[in-house]
Amino acid sequence: MTTKTLVNARQTAKINAGVIGWPIKHSRSPLIHGHWLREHQIDGSYEKIAVEPTDLESFINNLKTNNLSGLNVTVPHKEMVFKFADLVTEDAKSIGAANTLWFENDKLIAGNTDGYGFITHLKLSASTWETNKPVMVLGAGGAARAILYALLNEGVPEINLTNRTRERAENLAKEFGPKIKVVEWEDKENHLQNCGLLVNSTSLGMTGSAPLEINISPLPKNAICYDIVYAPLETQLLKDAKNLSLGTVDGLGMLLHQAVPGFEKWFGIRPEVTEELRQIILNDLA
Ligand code: ATR
Repeated sequence: MTTKTLVNARQTAKINAGVIGWPIKHSRSPLIHGHWLREHQIDGSYEKIAVEPTDLESFINNLKTNNLSGLNVTVPHKEMVFKFADLVTEDAKSIGAANTLWFENDKLIAGNTDGYGFITHLKLSASTWETNKPVMVLGAGGAARAILYALLNEGVPEINLTNRTRERAENLAKEFGPKIKVVEWEDKENHLQNCGLLVNSTSLGMTGSAPLEINISPLPKNAICYDIVYAPLETQLLKDAKNLSLGTVDGLGMLLHQAVPGFEKWFGIRPEVTEELRQIILNDLA
């Protein structure tokens, strides 16, 4: 085979990627990547793949054999995949979880794009956000880890962190350092008055979950409210914020923007998050 035909063969070879989890039925990632594959007319695929925890190691070790260029990783594999990657990126290490796997120079890299998705959507949606003001983050689960990482990277001076189970917030404060101040869940309203940003990273307010009960009126008038819940798209928190004429950021953009770096790594084109794509996901949620 000449160099030219080899290049042609590579160019025409179908590129495959997917998302692994257990269970995996509810993932919306195939809708996102499927849209971009069609938009860019790429000969590729992106599938949901159910992988049991006991099969994770052999599945990861056989990615190339199975003609997979990379993966998104979701619950319950996000921490476990570290063990089977050749390299773990700084962001994945700090967040303590990986959501994207790709090959670079034949090495399998485990990265995390959730913090990138969170901050990119925030900056695009709330240009008036004042990064020099303290932030209030509700929740101390996996999503909160990516959010704290992204906010600290952005240079915010202080993050008030509150969680129903205080101990989880205390653990994150130990891990992420002195800018994180743990606030009692029942006392959260008393720590809003200086905040430039309030983030809900809990599942409260999601369809089927308990409501998020918080009086946000102490927030300053330039503050932004960001709810990572995207079903419903306009949560009660965002409704309350609009009623107070505060800036709002919904949760759908984080989901869409976190998908961008993976698509680029696997398929070689950096895709756009467009209104059309948002609508595809919203139709699916309806
Ligand atoms: P994720 O990875 O999506 O962040 P998670 O790790 O299960 O999911 O975290 C869910 C978050 O929502 C946690 O902060 C959780 O609080 P606890 O740590 O106390 O469980 C929060 N959460 C869920 N249900 C809640 C409720 N009814 N009241 C208050 N917080 C709740």
